[in-house]
Amino acid sequence: MLPPVLAGYHEATKHTPERLRASRHFLDWANMPSPFRHYEGAPLVDLPADPPLAPFLAGAEALSALFYYSCSISATKQAPSGYRYALRVNPSSGNLHPTEFHFQSRGLSGWQDGLYHYRPSSHSAERRARGDVLGGLSEAPLAVILTSIFWREAWKYRARAYRYVNLDLGHAMLAVQYAAGALGWPSRVRGVFDDARLAAALRLAEDEQPMLLVELWPQAETGPPENVVWTPGRPNRLSQEAIEYPLIARMHAATLACPETLDPPPPRVVRWVHGDYAALARRRRSALDFLLEGRLMPRQAFETILALLEEPLAADWGGPFVTAFLFIHSVEGLAPGLYRLKRGALRRIREGDQRVIAAALSLGQDLAGNSCFTAGFVADFGRAAARFGDRAYRFLHHEAGALGHRLYLAAEAFGFRATGIGAFYDDHVHAWLGLHPQGPLQVVYHFAAGDPVSDPRLAPEV
Ligand SMILES: Cc1cc2nc3c(=O)[nH]c(=O)nc-3n(C[C@H](O)[C@H](O)[C@H](O)COP(=O)(O)O)c2cc1C
Repeated sequence: MLPPVLAGYHEATKHTPERLRASRHFLDWANMPSPFRHYEGAPLVDLPADPPLAPFLAGAEALSALFYYSCSISATKQAPSGYRYALRVNPSSGNLHPTEFHFQSRGLSGWQDGLYHYRPSSHSAERRARGDVLGGLSEAPLAVILTSIFWREAWKYRARAYRYVNLDLGHAMLAVQYAAGALGWPSRVRGVFDDARLAAALRLAEDEQPMLLVELWPQAETGPPENVVWTPGRPNRLSQEAIEYPLIARMHAATLACPETLDPPPPRVVRWVHGDYAALARRRRSALDFLLEGRLMPRQAFETILALLEEPLAADWGGPFVTAFLFIHSVEGLAPGLYRLKRGALRRIREGDQRVIAAALSLGQDLAGNSCFTAGFVADFGRAAARFGDRAYRFLHHEAGALGHRLYLAAEAFGFRATGIGAFYDDHVHAWLGLHPQGPLQVVYHFAAGDPVSDPRLAPEV
């Protein structure tokens, strides 16, 4: 039995052709929330430009590298109107970027202890407070707090947005961990904490919720805590009007409780080992579409990807709760078909070409059929909710987002490209995979990888 709020929210936000046809939603461009939060009036601390990413950097250079290779602006795209907009190292559904990055530092050499907010628009840090605002909430010398502004995503995706913000967070947490790993720093992720205490400690704006704590262990020499002194920074307003989505508010409220307190896992260095992480992170992009007659994916690259899908996360909720079904279209040595990945082994559950059905299930998006393969990530709601109640909803999506992040980097490393797909007809997917529509296994994310078409609107950041 699933907790009623989780089951209710998830059912109510399933895509069906009927719901999409009945929708009268239009995008209110005049009220689009700004993708950038700024703390107006907070002192800006420069982060050195174009930092290297290497072990044993310290101070501003190390912090610059951490954010440059996890969440900074890495390219721009031109809209048909001529307007150029920013793309970042971390992907985001609809490029709406609901995730914000705050950090508390303690005892880092050459860097003033305090609470900062990362400002991607100018790759700098806004100092929000001096001293240690987290107190006992984290022991790590560097704690990156990932928050989310649901309204940014709900502006476009309405009630379904709560799924997307949690997927985005899974991408973001792993991006931070890989950048930290390249700096030689151990890390771990905590998804269980007292949300109200953390939000109060950070003095977050009402539209921003704390969602994950990514704890990092750079070299540090912590002395006695300094008194906290807040700077005058005030969060900017993101749009004229923020529209309430009661389904999201109820779902989020239900996730605030967690039946279990957890011992966080020991920190470990989470390293990307398939190529130069710095280059891949900056180059990672979503493909617009894939070439139907493109290159076959070599078997070795595909096998590496399968192994990455089963590597555990360094997160306190443990898992794994997510497994992959794979619509295989053009992978060397594998017959097209629908496969299930379980404990390292692929089992074919449907034979024959899956291109048309994969695209149809992904809300008719061609890229899911033109790829080399498209993954359907299915989460075990039953097992996760039995431990974590409604809070499990966050973790299942974080885990799927993190797996997607590995796929993005791996595809790029092997000369292909990938795209996350948050839009699919949930219960049609279940029917095709042989899963009960209201059963404990539910699809949470689709992900396509293949030989990309070129994207003429894209320009790298210079
Ligand atoms: C959770 C999630 C869901 C996404 N869903 C879709 C989708 O359904 N269709 C699509 O074409 N792109 C999708 N994307 C890709 C985003 O549109 C893309 O990440 C964003 O435009 C930023 O571009 P970038 O990844 O190149 O930085 C998704 C990305 C994420 C992280």
